[in-house]
Amino acid sequence: MTETRRLDEIALELRNALTRLPRTLPPRWLYDDRGSELFSQITGVPEYYQTETERQILTDHSAAIAEITEATTVIELGSGTSDKTRTLLDAFTAHGLIERFVPLDVSEQTVLDAAEMLSGRHPNIEIAPVVGDFTRDLHRLGDVESSGPKLVMFLGGTLGNFYVEERRAFLGALGDVLSPGDWVLIGMDQVKPVDRLIAAYDDSQGITEAFIRNALTNINATYDGDLDVGNFGYVPFWDGRQERIDMRLRADEPMSARLEGLDLDLELGAGEEIRVEISSKFRPERVVAELADAGFRQPSSAGDHVFADENNDFALVLARRS
Ligand code: SAH
Ligand code: AVI
Repeated sequence: MTETRRLDEIALELRNALTRLPRTLPPRWLYDDRGSELFSQITGVPEYYQTETERQILTDHSAAIAEITEATTVIELGSGTSDKTRTLLDAFTAHGLIERFVPLDVSEQTVLDAAEMLSGRHPNIEIAPVVGDFTRDLHRLGDVESSGPKLVMFLGGTLGNFYVEERRAFLGALGDVLSPGDWVLIGMDQVKPVDRLIAAYDDSQGITEAFIRNALTNINATYDGDLDVGNFGYVPFWDGRQERIDMRLRADEPMSARLEGLDLDLELGAGEEIRVEISSKFRPERVVAELADAGFRQPSSAGDHVFADENNDFALVLARRS
């Protein structure tokens, strides 16, 4: 696909997302340079337990994951800073089979900086960054060379940022592009008491709110828009039926905006909302079942390849393409 067609497709996707009701946003709009920086800050706020919990799970289980998978190529989708991945690559290096690490992210500067950091630390592993979109480019993984099994990782709980049908499409595309014997390692935030979840998405320093607002700032900058970002209120809440945090921006008063680059005029009534992001919370059995639908199985008895912390706050599910 040419870059122009790609840009047209991304614009059309956004136009549709903003015009259809409920208005939503594709996650990529959260991650311009400022958004990536704000996400990094979120990972350090005390209420956001996920990053440190997943890091601890990786510290405890990376050696086992290297041993079970015997992967020679590790691919990380939505890799961001690949900060936690250092632990995993250390274990794979000690195991002695890894040849290549491929971080893929839509945020160009972030993935290139991460690749540079990892090249310095792992001179014996080929670090091959890809600037790409995990909702459109998974077919490119078929071109990644590997002398042995591949392991595709999707960490951080980013699976929860998809809607159900997007999640099915994503896992299905992974199943299609991987070969029997390849592996996936999927991070998932677990269902837990609502007060902890709300605190994690409405932190006292207001960093999550700034992260969510920045998506509109990014859209304004990209499409020559005049959405009045300051005139929206931040509304995060727990949707118990769907088991997800829902993060919205609500127009405080009637609002007109034009996005020149999308040729789009938006009229929002007072109280009208844009759902900027969802973050679904899971029970491991559900992810295991969805992986099975996409052709991935847990090789030994159920549960053996679900790695979690002692409080069951977060989990990593490992499964093999059958
Ligand atoms: N895996 C990291 C980062 C999670 S934040 C961690 O566990 O901390 C989500 C990441 O997904 C960001 O780095 C963002 O740039 C990336 N991302 C969001 N939408 C994307 C898309 N459509 N394609 C590729 N990367 C995407
Ligand atoms: C990247 N993703 C898993 C984060 C999450 O928790 O859903 C994004 C985020 N949104 C607000 N805070 C963090």
